[in-house]
Amino acid sequence: MRMHKKSHLEERLSACADILKTPDVTEKNMKISANIPDILPLERIFGNANPVFLEIGCGKGKFVCETAKLCPDINFVAVEKISNVLIEALERAKAENIRNVYFLNCAAEVLPKYFEEGSVSRIYLNFSNPLPKEGYKKQRLTHPKFLSVYKRLLKRGGEIVQKTDDRDFYLFSLESYRQCGFDIKATCEDLAAEPVEGDVETEHEKLFKERGKPIFRVVAVNI
Ligand SMILES: C[S@@+](CC[C@H](N)C(=O)[O-])C[C@H]1O[C@@H](n2cnc3c(N)ncnc32)[C@H](O)[C@@H]1O
Repeated sequence: MRMHKKSHLEERLSACADILKTPDVTEKNMKISANIPDILPLERIFGNANPVFLEIGCGKGKFVCETAKLCPDINFVAVEKISNVLIEALERAKAENIRNVYFLNCAAEVLPKYFEEGSVSRIYLNFSNPLPKEGYKKQRLTHPKFLSVYKRLLKRGGEIVQKTDDRDFYLFSLESYRQCGFDIKATCEDLAAEPVEGDVETEHEKLFKERGKPIFRVVAVNI
């Protein structure tokens, strides 16, 4: 389903420029772009050297905004490739005056461009599109192609925390983590039965729970 472009999108994005990095439009090839550094000056952006947590595919930003309020000593960078969706997260963070979130309007593929190697402590993958068709496998955000990107960003001992409602995607992800040298620290096949303290519900999670679907969760450690 095609989403309507939000009204005055460009003006609204400009009004959030202080908490947003917009994509590099000069280089269209993501593989090339990923290797042209444009490192985010995170200490200057946040005014401190606190640990950095990323959320990749943050959607409308419920999870990152609520988690950032619960964890004021962590700096969050929320990544979303669709500006039409991201605008809601940006405007929420502004309205709620959340100071420890910054947003990156780019695709996960180009992340090495923006971060020093080993500078990220945790990556959240919340309800990433499961893309069940075989032909789209390489676009799943836990495909080994993406895990090698995350390995570059993560500190040794840094972790990926993933939630999904899709069992096949969960199993695919477990296999990918193992293949790519991550250690599986925790798994859960029904988050409602084993709640995790401090874990915030995302927009999609709310919908899936209302439909009675179990939520799967994995914590994979970069060893
Ligand atoms: C199903 S939504 C989940 C949104 C939110 N995390 C939640 O749980 O409600 C997946 C989001 O990931 C974004 N996304 C998909 N592939 C991406 C990529 N390669 N880079 C950045 N964002 C991506 C989509 O645009 C979409 O907003």
